[in-house]
Amino acid sequence: MKILVTGGLGFIGSHTVVELQNQGFEVVIVDDLSNSSENVLNGIVAISNKKPLFEKLDLREKNKVQDFFKKHQDISGVIHFAASKAVGESVGNPLLYYENNINTLVYLLQELQKLPEANFIFSSSCTVYGQAEKMPITEDASIQLAMSPYGNTKQIGEEIITDTAKVTNINAILLRYFNPIGAHPSAEIGELPIGVPQNLVPFITQTGFGLRKELSVYGDDYPTPDGTAVRDYIHVVDLAKAHVIAMQRLLDKKNLDKVEIFNLGTGTGSSVLEVIHSFEKVSGQKLPYKIVARREGDITSAYANTDKANNVLGWKAQSTLDEAMASAWKWEQKVRS
Ligand code: NAD
Ligand code: WQD
Repeated sequence: MKILVTGGLGFIGSHTVVELQNQGFEVVIVDDLSNSSENVLNGIVAISNKKPLFEKLDLREKNKVQDFFKKHQDISGVIHFAASKAVGESVGNPLLYYENNINTLVYLLQELQKLPEANFIFSSSCTVYGQAEKMPITEDASIQLAMSPYGNTKQIGEEIITDTAKVTNINAILLRYFNPIGAHPSAEIGELPIGVPQNLVPFITQTGFGLRKELSVYGDDYPTPDGTAVRDYIHVVDLAKAHVIAMQRLLDKKNLDKVEIFNLGTGTGSSVLEVIHSFEKVSGQKLPYKIVARREGDITSAYANTDKANNVLGWKAQSTLDEAMASAWKWEQKVRS
């Protein structure tokens, strides 16, 4: 079975390609390398002993997307990771985000609706919940007004897929990720942020390595046990495995709804200080940090209710925060060596 993985050389995509290949799927990756490198292919091969097909292609080029599907008529499913994902950048350049995250989705769906049957997995985000009223967050929690163009593209993306699936042969699963972190335990693939990392864990590992002077902890006056904000940090390998299970569910079609939504998290909230302490434990070194003001747009707390993913998908995150942090640290050291 051939699966198209868009953005398959990126952080979550590359880990998913490995898990798909490990389960015997044939993979074709489409990526424009705007936030990744062709070297990632070597890491994938080192782990899974198998080279996926790769086409460098910008999904914003509609005619190229059409040509791709003419060439690959045997695609059984699509996992669509390709998108721009920097929240701050999306505020400054909203049209880049609407073009890259919405047009690409529309072009893909336009091709998929021509097929007799299509299976589609979409990378959504817990950002659609904003600051949810109740923790842990269930899939039926209300969608809040998006706080950034990036967040809005995830909400609109979910709507586009839902509207389209209703009237076409497309079955879809929308996966709402909480905070993906870590790297493959082999340290052959991992996260490669360009420039100064905006996310907590790469900033911590770069600081631990001495690339940054100190971590700024954004606020210790939140109504949480230690005053710092709480998130649900999920190991990227656990997240990747969920995609394979979700794709298998689409292919099996047992009790499948046209569109299904799953939270992908661990179900446990961790504060910024807990993440720092986990890093200190697994790296055996102190992390320099200072408390600064809250970051604009940040929420207090978000962690997943994972009952639906556990019971319907039959998936559960396995790794602990320490294991995820250890893998992130191993990767940071490997990349810099
Ligand atoms: P990433 O940037 O590492 O991977 C995305 C990949 O898509 C990159 O390799 C990039 O080169 C490629 N790409 C971007 N635009 C493209 C285009 N027009 N044509 C072809 N390729 C293109 O990001 P990631 O962290 O792996 O995220 C994957 C998906 O998951 C994204 O849709 C993101 O919005 C979503 N998501 C990520 C997080 C997170 O914290 N990392 C959380 C929730 C949701
Ligand atoms: C985590 C916590 C920060 C950096 C973002 C996107 C979201 C999703 C995941 C895609 C927060 C604190 C961070 C730092 C800090 N992406 N922090 N110092 O904000 O939960 O979510 O990435 O869909 O849409 O908004 O993740 O890693 O940026 O922050 O104190 O230098 O760490 O305030 O509490 P966030 P994050």
